[in-house]
Amino acid sequence: MAILKIARMGHPVLRVRAEEIDDPMAPEVQRLVPHMLETMVDADGLGLAAPQIYVSKRLVIFSIPADRADEFGGEVVPMSVLINPVIEPLSDEMVTGWEGCLSVPGLRGQVARHTHVGYRGLSLKGKPIEREAKGWHARVVQHEFDHLDGILYPQRMDNLGELVFESEIKHLIEDPEERAAVERAD
Ligand code: NI
Repeated sequence: MAILKIARMGHPVLRVRAEEIDDPMAPEVQRLVPHMLETMVDADGLGLAAPQIYVSKRLVIFSIPADRADEFGGEVVPMSVLINPVIEPLSDEMVTGWEGCLSVPGLRGQVARHTHVGYRGLSLKGKPIEREAKGWHARVVQHEFDHLDGILYPQRMDNLGELVFESEIKHLIEDPEERAAVERAD
């Protein structure tokens, strides 16, 4: 396996709608995912979308591992591979929280996301996956699925005054637990 280079904000691959995957079992799809997993873990991210490694296909991976769940509301999300995902809000309620992105290194921003969503797609074995998500789980999938439509989180921000360097975020958050979480979240 290999650690892949991550595309950064401004690269065209992050700005276009990614293509559907016709065959999840295709060798190029199967080969790609282990590299994506290794790259995401190496970068300490919670998710990674194929366009972030210069592959304009509708594929994302994400997880909230057990050893980090406390930072993100307590829910463990198993390592998930989702192909051609579709998402729908299940509530109009939005909540604002700090996000980061491996394609926007060094920055954090306040982004409003739906609190409750449903999503579905195909697993790496081509099997249907259908889930509901709340909290950080819902935030992560909304962030990752946006990558497939060429959208980065700053484009979702209501107030760019809340786009800050992660090294300065300590000035904005008083609660130490929340501060620890945002300093490590991607
Ligand atoms: Ni991202």
